[in-house]
Amino acid sequence: MGEPHQREQAGAEAARVDQAGAAAPAGDVAVSEAAAEREAAPGETPVRGTAATSTPVRGSGVREADKPVLGVGMVGYAFMGAAHSQGWRTVGRVFDLPRRPVLAAVCGRDAEGVRAMADRHGWAAAETDWRALIARDDVDLVDICTPGDSHAEIALAALAAGKHVLCEKPLANTVEEAEAMTAAAEAAAARGQVAMVGFNYRRLPATSLARTMVGEGRLGTLRHVRVTYLQDWLVDPEFPLTWRLRRERAGSGALGDLGAHIIDLAQYLAGEPVIGVSALTETFVRQRPLPAAASSGLSTVSDRAGLGIVTVDDAALFTGRFASGALASFEASRFATGRKNALRIELNGERGSLAFDLERLNELSYHDHTEPGTHAGFRRILVTEPDHPYLDAWWPPGHGLGYEHTFTHQAHDLVRAVAAGRRPVPSFADGLQVQRVLAAVEESAEKNSVYTPVAVTPVTAASPAVRGDL
Ligand SMILES: NC(=O)c1ccc[n+]([C@@H]2O[C@H](COP(=O)([O-])OP(=O)(O)OC[C@H]3O[C@@H](n4cnc5c(N)ncnc54)[C@H](O)[C@@H]3O)[C@@H](O)[C@H]2O)c1
Repeated sequence: MGEPHQREQAGAEAARVDQAGAAAPAGDVAVSEAAAEREAAPGETPVRGTAATSTPVRGSGVREADKPVLGVGMVGYAFMGAAHSQGWRTVGRVFDLPRRPVLAAVCGRDAEGVRAMADRHGWAAAETDWRALIARDDVDLVDICTPGDSHAEIALAALAAGKHVLCEKPLANTVEEAEAMTAAAEAAAARGQVAMVGFNYRRLPATSLARTMVGEGRLGTLRHVRVTYLQDWLVDPEFPLTWRLRRERAGSGALGDLGAHIIDLAQYLAGEPVIGVSALTETFVRQRPLPAAASSGLSTVSDRAGLGIVTVDDAALFTGRFASGALASFEASRFATGRKNALRIELNGERGSLAFDLERLNELSYHDHTEPGTHAGFRRILVTEPDHPYLDAWWPPGHGLGYEHTFTHQAHDLVRAVAAGRRPVPSFADGLQVQRVLAAVEESAEKNSVYTPVAVTPVTAASPAVRGDL
């Protein structure tokens, strides 16, 4: 497959703004079957029982209201709940999808809070028990935006109930949970259901373009992957002990939160799994004030007396090997003063290098080492052209995208996979592979950084997303 992501000519025309910024009316642009066929995300494979769709798309003259509905039910309604809501709300208005996502119901434990969120974000109904949400007939897809301790239970129940599943990262809190989820997703795929994990940084035009360029061989043999993900929201020792700092809820700290993202991104861009790691982790502040009852993961509110023990890492540093022999270094920290959400990745190969910085997310740096040394060097690719991944549905060149668009693109790729009967990526197997690396990092850190191999199971080794089979 050449271009990894969906060329959305019809969506592009539908959503293209004129100079005054008004959206052009949708529904009058032709999309060929061939164009619709091209729209598989990299590595997606057919799911048994859902033959490739012939569902007409907007360009064929079908009105949005006449498209088959995909009812979405979301569990968790705070940070990721809001981000995913934005994605689900926007995706059908920007992209020309074969199914129409409908925000059917959202679930949280506080009735008043979840009702208010539903009203604000456009969810038709609110539930206070995720089992009731899964049982709803108008919910076809369950979107899990809760802390890691509930991912496995909700995902397994949703798959058993015949629903498609989107699960936030990290896939689970343990390898065992991730294995069970992957096995359930495999069984569900045979019944025509899809399951995807929410590594949204794959969905940026620049990172997607980077994957394409690596797949095209522009870097040649890969030698280095260097990746850091730095935040500073825990520097204050008075920051309360929210769920993110408790192992039984979050699984791990900066490692599972930030480290999971950069492991996935590194494996995705390199096109191969990490096969071993050597690690250091540290918890710099070991006791923190207990949080207010209703605080979320990033809340700074503490209204209770007393301190609690921090049971996760504050920072994780590790080196790793890829199967090809390339070397990787990873750094994830919540203590990098001044760094807010600083994800940077650089890949160096024999023929060239690529570098990406989330703080400049519309750009990709590329060095072509085959050019004469006299004028070779890093150049900035402004990733806003309609030929770039996802971008023919958005704004004219130079009118950049942001963080929130990753969730729209995630919804886009998932809806297309559901409609076409393809296994979406990153799959639960990809999430499991990340989980294995997380576990190996913890094991290595406990053993004073001893090199710790990462099991690459046949299912994961065969995973197209990890293999980078474009
Ligand atoms: N992809 C990303 O960039 C990204 C960013 C942040 C968080 N995350 C992931 O998203 C997930 C949620 O994180 P967050 O920052 O949104 O957390 P949060 O604390 O902001 O929100 C968690 C939500 O889950 C709800 N919840 C918890 N347990 C529940 C249960 N048993 N039933 C129903 N609702 C329940 C809470 O009420 C809250 O609404 C985590 O897995 C996290 O790692 C991903």
